[in-house]
Amino acid sequence: MKRLWLGLGLSLFLLAGCSSNASEKTSVNGEALYKSKCLACHGADLKGSYGPPVLNMGSKYSEQQIKKIITDGIGKMPGQNVTEKEATELTNWLMKK
Ligand code: HEC
Repeated sequence: MKRLWLGLGLSLFLLAGCSSNASEKTSVNGEALYKSKCLACHGADLKGSYGPPVLNMGSKYSEQQIKKIITDGIGKMPGQNVTEKEATELTNWLMKK
């Protein structure tokens, strides 16, 4: 019986932990995704290299448009091989840059 309560307490603790810093986690993920999928063409500081700078994208495009650029590509940029969830995380992260 003691074990059960311990397990229950632990899962509640974990659940609470997840919801309270969900936004923080998203941004960390966005950054990690950027580094693995986008950095090569857009540069470590987002100021561009092969591709153009991707700073202030939130003022140029809507969330939907950025997501579409990531998944379908635009002009000379090929669509990126990311999941729906990854595209959302990247978009949320990029829009704050
Ligand atoms: C193979 C190189 C390459 C990769 C990888 C790449 N891009 Fe691009 N990206 C480009 C190029 C080139 C353009 C310019 C396209 C054009 O207009 O011809 C571009 C354009 C963009 C634009 C629009 C910029 C503007 O000012 O209109 C955004 C936003 C963008 N990329 C985001 C991303 C994100 C986020 C990723 C990672 C998921 C990524 N790109 C990965 C090459 C790349």
